[in-house]
Amino acid sequence: MRPELIEELRKETAGEDLDLSWLEKPAAQHGLRIAPGKRGLTLEDIATESYGDIPASTRNQTGRMRGAASRPDAQSTQQMWPSKSASWSESAMLLYEEAVQRQWSSATDIPWDQMPELDDDIEMAMSQLCTFLTQVEFIAGDVPGQYAPNVSAEYFEVGLFLASQIMDEARHLDVFRKRALANGIGLLSAGPGAIGLLTAQDFTEMASTLHLVGEGFVQSMFRMGELFAQSEVDKRMFRLAAQDESRHVAFGVMHMKYVMDVQPERREEIHTYLDRMEGQLGAGSAQAGLTGGGATSEALAILLGGGTSEAQLNEGYRKLLAIRKRQVNEYMHRLEVVGLGDRRERMAPMMQMLLDPPRN
Ligand SMILES: [Fe+2]
Ligand SMILES: [Fe+2]
Repeated sequence: MRPELIEELRKETAGEDLDLSWLEKPAAQHGLRIAPGKRGLTLEDIATESYGDIPASTRNQTGRMRGAASRPDAQSTQQMWPSKSASWSESAMLLYEEAVQRQWSSATDIPWDQMPELDDDIEMAMSQLCTFLTQVEFIAGDVPGQYAPNVSAEYFEVGLFLASQIMDEARHLDVFRKRALANGIGLLSAGPGAIGLLTAQDFTEMASTLHLVGEGFVQSMFRMGELFAQSEVDKRMFRLAAQDESRHVAFGVMHMKYVMDVQPERREEIHTYLDRMEGQLGAGSAQAGLTGGGATSEALAILLGGGTSEAQLNEGYRKLLAIRKRQVNEYMHRLEVVGLGDRRERMAPMMQMLLDPPRN
């Protein structure tokens, strides 16, 4: 702003004790104008010039947003992580924008009024699966939620993405709870479903166990929802949830890839997290654990086979094995993308036996 204009303003407002000195300190990139692209004005569009300089580490623990001027008297908090690798994911901006654009409502985007009357066994199985999933989704929101205060404002895009994931998981919890209650059965017993995820002590540990493994398995299962959904209501529910899970998995994969690129010395540490996670998933029979305990696996088999006769159960378990194979092979693919392809030799035996041979 022109100095004479500032003087003029000061005179005009004399008596009100205005400072206005900030008008003489334009932003470092004053004059930078950004036009929207094909997808509107996105976070990636504004991460440009100096606003796109994302430091590898920072002493900014004050909540000062990246690119804003510093303030010498700002209160500092030690809870914000100083390093980019602690939480960064190259896909955070893109996935946050996608999440905002693709929010849906479990109240109005599911055709609840078209819910058919299903056999009791099928309804019981769907309620069993949904009871398990409500608990899994509750935990899937709490786990990333506990790290939100640790993300520095230098890396705020990660915080925004985590907020979108927590909102998605809230909606998943509510849609599966609504489904369990919608047709007269109600909630059954969830089993331990995903409770072990709450023990993660570190963000990368969480990305390994929640995003790379847990949500990856859920995503593969939801994507195959057409196989076990018995109505348009259920198909739509799993389709919409799968779309959200893809974002969560992609965020975690890109975080892990970043960590492996800049901190390759953490490889063995990450393998240890995966050893523990795979051990938990593989507990019990080879069929159990990957997407729930025994009761949830049985429920899935009933849904997949269409009933509880011997022939239907055989068919159900045959299809369940196809889901397990897809879960494990998609997991292996994610490991390769991250740079942990050596996991193939180290994977828990009950998962390893479901792997397809390497592609090359
Ligand atoms: Fe979810
Ligand atoms: Fe998720």
